[in-house]
Amino acid sequence: MRVGEALVTKGNKTMDNRPIGFFDSGLGGLTCIPNLFSELPEERVIYFGDTARTPYGSKAVSTIRHYAAQIADFLASQGVKMMVIACNTITATCLEELRLRFPKTPIIGIIKPAAVKTASICDESNNIGIIATKVTIASDDYNMMIKEQDPHLNVYSKATPAFVPLIEEGIIDNEIMNLTIRYYLDDFIRDNRIDTLVLGCTHYPLIRKNIQAIYPQLRIVNPSYEIISPIRDILTEQDMLAKENDRENIFYASDLSENFVNMIQKVLETEKSDLILKFKNLDL
Ligand code: DGL
Repeated sequence: MRVGEALVTKGNKTMDNRPIGFFDSGLGGLTCIPNLFSELPEERVIYFGDTARTPYGSKAVSTIRHYAAQIADFLASQGVKMMVIACNTITATCLEELRLRFPKTPIIGIIKPAAVKTASICDESNNIGIIATKVTIASDDYNMMIKEQDPHLNVYSKATPAFVPLIEEGIIDNEIMNLTIRYYLDDFIRDNRIDTLVLGCTHYPLIRKNIQAIYPQLRIVNPSYEIISPIRDILTEQDMLAKENDRENIFYASDLSENFVNMIQKVLETEKSDLILKFKNLDL
């Protein structure tokens, strides 16, 4: 197993250069990666995007569980030191099950850190909007977790399922996307007087600029950023931080399309960085 090769002891401090496994139904989870590299630059990543079977957000929970177990099995076979579920839909449906499947591997879901952050910046005078896939909204996880922090907070939820297929197609910087945003959000924001909007799907940071331009008054919470702090906390607590990595990162997709590779390069702004990226097609 690669675990043994990657664990090195320096003095009495252990460093763990194994990669962190990130996964999502498609390219949305990529929005977590630049935040990871800027906050924890020594870490490296194995990413899996299930681009052949995306979107997950309107599928049956049993199907999502089956797919998520396959992906997690694959990441475990690659010797990752931690798994990050960079997908709200999978977090809402599979987090506990995956933790039972891999009891020795830390597994982080994306919803709780964002819910805690949202509650910490809001009070009863605010109106919080959650936008996400149908499955994430049906789980009610954001609402419950925000109210666990403070039961007096006002939370409104809205499923916005057409965003993911458009983003996966690269339809972002244009009028079709802007019309779709207005179609879903105009009434929702006006009728509920939403002032704080949680992007409850990891694809949505890719349309954050569009949303902010249409509703400049909104305060936006980005779960793809909020997930970095628990990653750091767990790696630090468990003495698993990486040091002196070779910066090699591998991005797997179940359908390695040109759009996926372009999006990785766009999201990571690779021209400006010294990252080594490898892309692979993988049939699970
Ligand atoms: N990025 C996934 C999420 O955060 C998208 C879900 C989908 O595939 O519909 O929920």
